[in-house]
Amino acid sequence: MRPTLALRGVQVFQGLLDRGSQNAILGEIRNIVVKAPLFSPKTPSGKPMSVQMTSAGNFGWVSDKSGYRYAPNHPNGTVWPEIPSSVHQIWDKVSGSGRRLECCLVNLYRDGAKMGMHQDRNEAEFGEPVVSVSLGDDALFRIGNLTRGGPTESIWLKSGDVVVMGGDARLVYHGVDKTRAGSSTLLNGGGRINLTLRVVT
Ligand code: SIN
Ligand code: MN
Repeated sequence: MRPTLALRGVQVFQGLLDRGSQNAILGEIRNIVVKAPLFSPKTPSGKPMSVQMTSAGNFGWVSDKSGYRYAPNHPNGTVWPEIPSSVHQIWDKVSGSGRRLECCLVNLYRDGAKMGMHQDRNEAEFGEPVVSVSLGDDALFRIGNLTRGGPTESIWLKSGDVVVMGGDARLVYHGVDKTRAGSSTLLNGGGRINLTLRVVT
């Protein structure tokens, strides 16, 4: 499967998911959130992050004063729910990986939430890509370089777009500057959900 666009080696599959598929995945995410409630993580320095998070899979991504890491349990102690088959299918379609997906991180952007520039580097195998799925409001996604700083390029991600950061672009700095409130009617109450799909071990 070929991306519709590549930006600094980051592959973008625009409109990969139609509205029906987006709604189906959203229903699955609601089930995940019932079992593993959204929480507001803090950075290791104690700053609250503006996105709310939860996960599905063998591992979930957590952050607190002990640092950024993958954990086998939700902060409330329960095991993470299973990753829905519709999400496994997206991974299998675009990742080019022979590995089975181990973590689906759910990020909810509401009320001006954003995400600062960072690398995804808590995983053991940088040969495995990171796949990200956008649902709901448009998001301004910024792509930088393999080291912090320098020139960047941005793209508005829309509901149904899927991004793959792999190969030479696996460790690029990236972040979300802002979302465009009201640009999508997918989520009740508005906002954006991003799923990040990863092999962790
Ligand atoms: C992330 O990098 O963890 C999230 C990216 C996004 O929300 O599009
Ligand atoms: Mn990231």
